[in-house]
Amino acid sequence: MKPKILVTGGAGYIGSHTCIALHQAGYDIIVFDNLSNSSVEAINRVSNLIKTPVTFIKGDIRDRASLQKVFIEHSFFGVIHFAGLKAVGESVEKPLRYYDNNVSGTLNLLDIMRAHDVKNFVFSSSATVYGDPDVLPINENAPRSATNPYGHSKLMVERILEDLTSADEGWSLVTLRYFNPVGAHVSGQIGEDPNGIPNNLMPYISQVAVGKLAQLSVFGNDYATPDGTGVRDFIHVTDLAYGHVAALDYIQQQDHPTGFLPINLGTGKGSSVLELLTAFSEVSGQRIPYQFAPRRAGDIASCYASADKAKALLGWEAELSIKDMCADTWRWQRLNPNGFS
Ligand code: NAD
Ligand code: UD1
Repeated sequence: MKPKILVTGGAGYIGSHTCIALHQAGYDIIVFDNLSNSSVEAINRVSNLIKTPVTFIKGDIRDRASLQKVFIEHSFFGVIHFAGLKAVGESVEKPLRYYDNNVSGTLNLLDIMRAHDVKNFVFSSSATVYGDPDVLPINENAPRSATNPYGHSKLMVERILEDLTSADEGWSLVTLRYFNPVGAHVSGQIGEDPNGIPNNLMPYISQVAVGKLAQLSVFGNDYATPDGTGVRDFIHVTDLAYGHVAALDYIQQQDHPTGFLPINLGTGKGSSVLELLTAFSEVSGQRIPYQFAPRRAGDIASCYASADKAKALLGWEAELSIKDMCADTWRWQRLNPNGFS
């Protein structure tokens, strides 16, 4: 029988891509999502792409009764936990909403998992837990800190997972720290569909390219980086999705539970804002007007991963290039100028 995986937040950007990768790898998936930042259309399109209907349950991870019901009805090998809120600026304005969703929701889920003796867990953490790093590339032992409620919520959950494994060695708690996920499925059928004006760089660039936004503001050109603009480790969402499959495969192969296991998912290479802009312009053939603007509060100069641990433990490494990331984003944007709506 195929191992069954509960995918919380599976209708979202990273979750929907991961559902495809899980299906291809032979996992049976159940998606649980409250659709607070996604559309059921993403699930329909995943079902079409994998030619198999995805079992979708609309529910909130903070609602014990509906989660309980799912665990009573299904016997899971493990849970991949994407469900959460992710907008840094909004988290500063609405901290309680973020702690409730991201921390209380996760506590609820872990408690129900414990009650049903499901102890394999893959958690969506973020490079944001490294704050402003002293050393590059960043490895998993780097000091952790956060500067906003979103980042704090990720740090708090990591702390909860560490304490959980100290109390009960039966858990496998793989914590994947994503760097900067971008790109879309190669079919152009699913991709990132931000609400309103995007905060993140890649969706902003693609909306300028398609003519929805007039020009990009490049936040800061006086950083201590090769061209003065911020440097990030952009990773294709499809590579990221395979990283989740590798994490589950790893848990399955172990004789013993693995405890708290933080792993970076990045390419190990940094690219600047201007490099990404230039690559997108070349790939799309579109002119992308931009202006330099002051630094954005809370931004750091450079952030890129050491990807060695993922390769050594999971046998996983990113394969897709910046050009692939731009080409796939552009295809998704052109085919779906208004996202899923
Ligand atoms: P997303 O918003 O597209 O997906 C999250 C999904 O969770 C959405 O479908 C949303 O409806 C659902 N959700 C939110 N709260 C819920 C709740 N209480 N109950 C049930 N479902 C709920 O975001 P994403 O980009 O796919 O991110 C997935 C995870 O990865 C998040 O935890 C995010 O913090 C983390 N992460 C994302 C990035 C990034 O750049 N996208 C970077 C690092 C970490
Ligand atoms: C941001 C979040 C981070 C979160 C990640 C993924 C902040 C401070 N950090 O990371 O916590 O995990 O998104 O959701 O919000 N840029 C521009 N113009 C734009 C947008 C961005 O120049 O319109 C620049 C930024 O200054 C930065 C780079 O592009 O140098 C990447 O920005 P972004 O895509 O927002 O990601 P991060 O800031 O790295």
